[in-house]
Amino acid sequence: MTVLAFDVYATLINTYGMVDLLQRYIGNERAMPFATLWRDKQLEYSFRRSMMGDYEPFYTCTSDALGYCIEAFGVQLTRDQQFSLIKRYQDLPPYRDVIPALESLSGRSDIRILALTNGPLEDIERLFANDAIDQYFEDIVSCDEIRCYKPDPAVYRHFLERAGAEADDCWLVSSNAFDCIGAGHAGFHTVWVKRYDAQLYDPWGKRPDATIQSLAELEAQF
Ligand code: LAC
Repeated sequence: MTVLAFDVYATLINTYGMVDLLQRYIGNERAMPFATLWRDKQLEYSFRRSMMGDYEPFYTCTSDALGYCIEAFGVQLTRDQQFSLIKRYQDLPPYRDVIPALESLSGRSDIRILALTNGPLEDIERLFANDAIDQYFEDIVSCDEIRCYKPDPAVYRHFLERAGAEADDCWLVSSNAFDCIGAGHAGFHTVWVKRYDAQLYDPWGKRPDATIQSLAELEAQF
């Protein structure tokens, strides 16, 4: 049996799904760089909180990172605008290839489909329910259950425990190179979803087992 552990943000859910709001608030030119820094800082804050043993739920990393970006870009955002951005983050849309890929994978009796994410369960359940992709998942495993973040090896071990699976049967599917490297380090197989040409895989010597451009290519890997 093959166990798929899907990362959520940037893999299933489009973390640029708030760019239209940013375009309106701070202009077309700054919207994408702002969204990119926001995501980078959000992840950096999760790494740092995990290393410090100072866990706060992922939305704290998201809102603190927003505060950082507002200062870094020197922009004025009203409280309502900040609220709308955070709210949008909680309702980000899935990428277009997600539902067809999950639909075809769910027809395979030799494949189990789970999620493994930094996001707290209630946030991910809401995101998945918005687009009715919850029906495809056997389970959602959240870092919140053990209060530390990817790529701490404890996260991947926790997944194995929750899934009742061996690492050698598990494939992490993620667009985040740091997540693939972390899962590979914990003994998982990895599929890196290189969604954008500009995405780079960190040159740490260990490559993902497979690289795909879109989830439409995923099923053919198994
Ligand atoms: C997640 C982050 C890493 O969903 O994107 O776990």
